[in-house]
Amino acid sequence: MSTPEPDLAPAFAALMDRHRSIRAYRSDPLPEGLADAVLVQALQGGSSSGNLNLVSVVKTQDTARRQALWALHGEQDMILQAPLVLTFCADSHRTRAWLAQRDARLGFADLVSWHTAAFDAMLLAQTAALAFESHGLGICYMGTTLFAMRGIADLLELPDNVLPVTSLVVGWPDEAPPQRDRLPATAWIHDERYARPTPGRIDADFAARELRGRQRYLASSPRMAALWQEHGIDSLAQYYTSPIKYDPDRFAAFSADIEALLAERGWRRSPGA
Ligand SMILES: Cc1cc2nc3c(=O)[nH]c(=O)nc-3n(C[C@H](O)[C@H](O)[C@H](O)COP(=O)(O)O)c2cc1C
Repeated sequence: MSTPEPDLAPAFAALMDRHRSIRAYRSDPLPEGLADAVLVQALQGGSSSGNLNLVSVVKTQDTARRQALWALHGEQDMILQAPLVLTFCADSHRTRAWLAQRDARLGFADLVSWHTAAFDAMLLAQTAALAFESHGLGICYMGTTLFAMRGIADLLELPDNVLPVTSLVVGWPDEAPPQRDRLPATAWIHDERYARPTPGRIDADFAARELRGRQRYLASSPRMAALWQEHGIDSLAQYYTSPIKYDPDRFAAFSADIEALLAERGWRRSPGA
């Protein structure tokens, strides 16, 4: 007779409810071996395209190397506080070496493989993030990985067909921020067909976000309020694509860098190959 599975749903709900990105850390180390154990568990317990495991993770704990990452990641101070930074990489280098060693046709050096490997890396990062949080640790993603791909790849000595996709800071929280909102289900869950949002739907779906955004950025930060005024920003939407947040011109330049890097580091198939 099989033993009934414990009901995992409440444990998962509690874990989801507890999530906050943590940006202030104590310097206390992680228990010996925990990072590797969590990563192994996360890869084993997550899905992986074709089960190819086109990922690598570089752990950075050394103070001087964390300082170098801090500079590359736009000087986000949490990197200097937390004991561990994990860089999740899309990696077909190892798989290609295996193919070559077994006289197999070489592959996985094209845009499809980049997507496959990059998504595998993101899936692993998120599974690992949940696992770290289940131990009471805090995490924060660093999207700056994309903007500093080349510098990070060089610092971590990544070979061809390996590029960083995202990074996690991991450590013991030194803050307890409130939970951040998400868009309501009406904004993004569709039945059978995509329902294009009407102007009224947009107003309703973004109302709470606009209110909380104003409170967060303006009411509690005189510096940010001054910046909004300086840049003529008077709504959260205007803030998001202003020069002080996700400037489309800067994004275009970063995008061009990424395209060039993908070609340079072997993620574009050369014609006739
Ligand atoms: C891919 C990705 C990149 C992110 N990059 C950064 C970052 O560079 N710095 C930062 O402070 N937070 C970063 N975050 C955290 C988000 O700002 C955060 O998840 C979001 O504001 C929601 O807050 P919460 O995670 O506390 O619920 C990133 C999150 C994701 C998923």
